[in-house]
Amino acid sequence: MRFSIVTLFPEFFDSPLSCGLLSRAREKGLVHFTFINPRDYSTDRHHHVDDRPYGGGPGMVMCVDPVRRALDTIPDQVRILLLSPKGRPLTQTLAKELAKEQELVLVCGRYEGIDARLEELCTVEAVSVGDFVLNGGESGALCLIEAVSRLVPDFMGKNESADEESFSSGLLEYPHYTRPEEYEGIPVPQVLASGHHEHIARWRHQKSLEITLACRPDLLSEAALSQEDMRYLQSLDRLKLGRNLYVALVHFPVENKSGEIITTSLTNLDLHDIARVSCTYELGGYYVCTPVHDQQILAQTLVNHWRTGLGSTANPDRRAALEQVHVVSLLDDAITDIKARTGRYPKVVATSAKTGTGTFTQVKGCLEHGPVLVVLGTGHGLGPEIMVRADILLRPIRFMDSYNHLSVRSAASIMVDRLVGDVG
Ligand SMILES: C[S@@+](CC[C@H](N)C(=O)[O-])C[C@H]1O[C@@H](n2cnc3c(N)ncnc32)[C@H](O)[C@@H]1O
Repeated sequence: MRFSIVTLFPEFFDSPLSCGLLSRAREKGLVHFTFINPRDYSTDRHHHVDDRPYGGGPGMVMCVDPVRRALDTIPDQVRILLLSPKGRPLTQTLAKELAKEQELVLVCGRYEGIDARLEELCTVEAVSVGDFVLNGGESGALCLIEAVSRLVPDFMGKNESADEESFSSGLLEYPHYTRPEEYEGIPVPQVLASGHHEHIARWRHQKSLEITLACRPDLLSEAALSQEDMRYLQSLDRLKLGRNLYVALVHFPVENKSGEIITTSLTNLDLHDIARVSCTYELGGYYVCTPVHDQQILAQTLVNHWRTGLGSTANPDRRAALEQVHVVSLLDDAITDIKARTGRYPKVVATSAKTGTGTFTQVKGCLEHGPVLVVLGTGHGLGPEIMVRADILLRPIRFMDSYNHLSVRSAASIMVDRLVGDVG
């Protein structure tokens, strides 16, 4: 594998490429490095490679011409990667893909980056090493070189293998231990000293699942999981954030289409469907808020039919869902009830199809610290008195589009899934 590195600072690579496995791989001829300095391709008398940015602002920009000339020396079929914060994230999957190439060109930007016309004139693939800004592409290129090189056959030696490492199977790796067998009273897990290969392999795989679930649950959506893996994941008593999440469906005060404050009627569909969402995602509870006495009786009658009446034996799944429902008069009653149950007042998150700037990430953050009550309106939306009192005004589900007319039960499902759903 040959890496051709386009950089203004070739000396940056001296030490990292001269130690450890990379240096051994160079000696064995498994990896080769060539450095191309755009300064050598500058036609300017002083070999300038940068200039001030058009439009003003701080810093300098790398000129397109020296970089383009440098890239003109590269054969057509070779993939050219441009290290850039806006690029495709560098993942193990990308590293595996790149390890199949014979040669890669890595273009390292400096200053404010390279004149944008480079990407119009040359076929380059932008690659990012993370959502942060480095001084230059060189340290990102080193990450890429390490990740790709160790997948080159024979790089690791026969005792070291990339097969079992983090991400190789879509999971994070299990923990490792070495001597002493006990340290500060903490013993090495017994199974690892048992010599029983099958038990050790099962323990390691289960630890991988546990660690991935705890640290990077997003990876599980792409991992190839067996039925047994699924059962194991379900058996884990993980921190269920859903328990901190409560939903309230408000029938008063809400607006009608003229903006007047009204009380809406209960609907059986909303009662059932949001209760089912609440049960599926193991939420703390679902409050149906209506100040109208008849409507409260109606709601309670429906709930009781499924909880304790004929419905409870005909459809026990529905009973479980309707057990999530609390019929209360006003939103304040829901808030008081959550305080009584949890000892804490919930963060109140108002929702709207028209307005709001709070993000789902912000609400997720609140869920880690205590109860959160997501308040959904009926009619044409929550009345202003609820909106102004809320701790967070969540932005509409499709905040970049103008048509945003979801039923409240669809909105509830989407919001709950974004907040506490499994990924994928
Ligand atoms: C100071 S940065 C320029 C950042 C640029 N002004 C911006 O805000 O996106 C200089 C160079 O470092 C490299 N770089 C910085 N952060 C990176 C990242 N997260 N991944 C890959 N390359 C990065 C790029 O080559 C970039 O052109």
